[in-house]
Amino acid sequence: MSVRTGVYPGTFDPITVGHMSIIKRALAVVDKLIIAVALDTGKAPVFTLDQRAAMVREEIASLRGAERVEVKSFSGLLVNFAAENNAQILIRGLRAVSDFEYEFQMASMNRRLHKEITTVFLPASETTQFISSRFVKQISKLGGDISSFVSPNVEKHLRKYFDEEFK
Ligand code: COA
Repeated sequence: MSVRTGVYPGTFDPITVGHMSIIKRALAVVDKLIIAVALDTGKAPVFTLDQRAAMVREEIASLRGAERVEVKSFSGLLVNFAAENNAQILIRGLRAVSDFEYEFQMASMNRRLHKEITTVFLPASETTQFISSRFVKQISKLGGDISSFVSPNVEKHLRKYFDEEFK
């Protein structure tokens, strides 16, 4: 039987409980999941590529089904990365209607670039769908409580980052 491999790409700056909920759902859809931490995202991430990937690895370590998950960083086109890793599916989480236009555009462009690779959208869970890494960083920077948006480990990394920035 062929292995169904999915790639879940993102900036993960940093990984949140929203991303984790998509990862758990994705494991029900694919046999093997590659979490692809992107260098080229059009955003200016706070954490380096290595730091973002390391945080994802730390989150995955205790996950049920972790043996089916691999964390990799990539640069360049997502579809090329997926093809090199023999993945047939791109996983994206959809939070609200507002995500749809951007995600639909990206899925369509990726399909044009590589027609054998299909995007599968998974709805974000109702308890996490409002979370955004951008706001998590802003709240952390301003000293707010982010404990319900990220794991204690990620919270620690964020606190360290902003403590050093304001030293
Ligand atoms: N629940 C809550 N929030 C979620 C979530 C969920 N389930 N899933 C994602 N989010 C949030 C993130 O926190 C993030 O918030 P932010 O915008 O405030 O930072 C946002 O949704 C989306 O981030 P993320 O999931 O990390 O994806 P991204 O949009 O940053 O990733 C890439 C974009 C990496 C997929 C895209 O830039 C890419 O493919 N780059 C490679 C180059 C390429 O091939 N380009 C051509 C594309 S057509």
